[in-house]
Amino acid sequence: MHPLYSELIELSIKAKKHSYSPYSKFSVGAALLTSNNKIYTGTNVESASYSLSICAERVAFTKAVSEGEKKFRAIAISASIKDYIYPCGACRQFMYEFGKDLDVIIIKSKKDFLIKKLADLLPGAFDKRSLKL
Ligand code: THU
Repeated sequence: MHPLYSELIELSIKAKKHSYSPYSKFSVGAALLTSNNKIYTGTNVESASYSLSICAERVAFTKAVSEGEKKFRAIAISASIKDYIYPCGACRQFMYEFGKDLDVIIIKSKKDFLIKKLADLLPGAFDKRSLKL
């Protein structure tokens, strides 16, 4: 396991604090590690127009990409439940844009987590090669 993964897990758990989830009351935190070891956090942000809500993972990615980052090593995801939190399908597809080798850290607690490759969470993914550009 990469030496920064413990810190990434802790930051993901802390990121939940700013969750704006008055409708679902389900807080999610994400912490994204770039290949040059910078960390960007994110949390879910909901809207009264429910379908506009955005997941923590996509918030972390859009923050990082809008700061010029394009290469990522891992994302840690935690939630306000006592169980593992897997990224939703939309986030799996969104993250795949930036690399199938991403480590996805699925957290139950600080000491209980799973590490999976994004490619294993989204087999047969549609990606830029599918467009044959
Ligand atoms: N949510 C995330 O932030 N990430 C996921 O991968 C799953 C779901 C959020 C969206 C919504 O604000 C709340 O959790 C309940 O679905």
